Amino acid sequence: MTGKTMRLSTLAAAVLLAASALPALAQSPAPDALEPRVKGGRFVMRDGEAIYRNVCQACHMADAKGAQGSGIYPALAANPRLAAAAYPIRVIVNGQKGMPSLGALFDDDQVAAVVAYVRTHFGNSYAGAVTAAEVKAQRPAAARAARAAGAATAG
Ligand code: HEC
Repeated sequence: MTGKTMRLSTLAAAVLLAASALPALAQSPAPDALEPRVKGGRFVMRDGEAIYRNVCQACHMADAKGAQGSGIYPALAANPRLAAAAYPIRVIVNGQKGMPSLGALFDDDQVAAVVAYVRTHFGNSYAGAVTAAEVKAQRPAAARAARAAGAATAG
């Protein structure tokens, strides 16, 4: 196992551990608890809803209304900040304050799928596809290159 794979697996395990430690999830055992949810350091679910249920729900809750306890987990339900897909993509890929960066645990299609899911459920109805290319553009290396290109053309 390479060092990189090791770190990713550890992060994935930490997210899953955080998930199972939360009371909301403990009340309803995950239906796929016996299936491996991480392979090669990445989550295996491809479907937006499955990703939400297995990963995001632990913090944002099943109804996506968020929670407040040892931390503040914002509601994704009826959230106007999801109007532009770039924002949730950036938060998921790069993390933001109390939200861990999950970019390494998903490929671009998986991030696009879960963003499309939350933008069209829980009282959100933001039409429009979310593409893997939009996710790729928010990956740290791509974002750095875009900033460098912008700086180069700005002057
Ligand atoms: C370990 C807990 C945790 C997990 C897992 C998690 N989040 Fe978050 N999320 C947070 C916290 C805490 C914040 C608030 C960050 C801040 O203060 O800016 C947040 C913020 C967000 C925001 C910004 C909301 C806003 O109003 O600004 C979005 C969008 C989001 N999360 C989506 C997701 C999605 C989709 C997933 C699953 C792929 C996910 N989160 C998984 C904890 C989590």
